[in-house]
Amino acid sequence: MPDQAASRKPGPAGTRFHEIRWLASVDSTNRLVLEEARAGAAEGLVVCAGEQTAGRGRQGRTWIAPAGSSLLCSVLLRPRLPPDRRHLVVIAASVAVAGAVESTTGVATSLKWPNDVMVGEAKLAGVLAEADGDAVVVGMGVNVDWPEVPAELIGVATAANREGGRPVGLPTLLDEVLRRYDAHLDDLPGALREYRRRLGTLGRRVRVDLSDGPLTGIAADVDHAGHLLVEVESGCLVEVAAGDVVHLRSA
Ligand code: BTN
Repeated sequence: MPDQAASRKPGPAGTRFHEIRWLASVDSTNRLVLEEARAGAAEGLVVCAGEQTAGRGRQGRTWIAPAGSSLLCSVLLRPRLPPDRRHLVVIAASVAVAGAVESTTGVATSLKWPNDVMVGEAKLAGVLAEADGDAVVVGMGVNVDWPEVPAELIGVATAANREGGRPVGLPTLLDEVLRRYDAHLDDLPGALREYRRRLGTLGRRVRVDLSDGPLTGIAADVDHAGHLLVEVESGCLVEVAAGDVVHLRSA
């Protein structure tokens, strides 16, 4: 399997990210880090790849990224948090990615619930968390320098270079993501406040595609666990823990 580390380096000084492994190619950095977690790897391992042959997206989708043009990385955490607060480590990742993209490339972003980093209605980055026992693997895919948008993603995805962003090397962007992520993990209430501030979904009319059918209403708030509170026509708030959100035009 082509997952031999091309290089191993320490992460940013003073952070919990003690080792960064860069691979040329792997099936999925999330899959690999989950395997390392099961084998007992310590919190703070980071694995990045130039290319994924079976990148994983949310809701069982495939994550597509042209080779060498995106930040594709997964970090291993072992959060000591009650179950209803564990999701905050995922929220903190999307806040870190959004902030790092803005500060390194100059591209202004917003967040779409639950963890998409957007430019307008096009997706620039996504976050996928997968858990096993006490381990949480947080995978981040950031579209940085795409020569073109793959045909199947036209109108859906974008990349920093296509939004007029300043060129940024992947190690520089990763360094900024990890520094910010480390700080947010130390202050999860602050990360949730920052998430709410950045969340473009709030106040929008939305449709949430749930396993038992669509739910339509106004995205009123997110609760302490990051769940979306949707105000439906009756005025009731419906709590949504997982699902896909579509931003609708106001009625
Ligand atoms: C989403 O669907 O929005 C989440 C996408 C997460 C993609 C990243 S790329 C690095 C890591 N490894 C994977 O297989 N997926 C995540």
